[in-house]
Amino acid sequence: MKSTKFFILLVATVGLMTLSTTASAFSTAACKACHQVDKDALGPAFKGIAEKYGDVKTLAGVFKSGFKVENRKVAQSSAKWKAQAPTMTGQYDNLIKKGGNEDAAAEALFSVTKAGKF
Ligand code: HEC
Repeated sequence: MKSTKFFILLVATVGLMTLSTTASAFSTAACKACHQVDKDALGPAFKGIAEKYGDVKTLAGVFKSGFKVENRKVAQSSAKWKAQAPTMTGQYDNLIKKGGNEDAAAEALFSVTKAGKF
């Protein structure tokens, strides 16, 4: 049991290291914890997000400008998501802004949506 936990931790650590060292190969694996493609989960469906932003450039632009709650198209469209904006802010700071992944994250969201799966 102990070694299984250690192994899981090891895999997770290596996974995180891979994420942070290969900026060009941005992974949406972490996003999956809260987002699905077609359905709202803890976070809104990627499909709905892609529809609201329309294209990669617009979403990347909002990421680059600091992803302020007042500039977020989904949070501004519903009280429910607006109330949850701080949850996404934490993800944005750690996974998108910190690694300089604004363009890659926007591209990944649209390509996952197009593919219909993560
Ligand atoms: C811990 C849960 C969680 C994780 C992990 C997460 N998100 Fe979110 N996300 C949310 C919630 C909750 C919202 C709704 C609040 C909001 O819109 O700010 C959201 C909203 C969004 C929005 C729409 C913002 C808006 O209001 O217009 C985008 C874009 C987004 N997430 C992208 C991502 C990407 C890309 C990842 C992975 C790098 C990710 N999220 C990981 C919880 C999460």
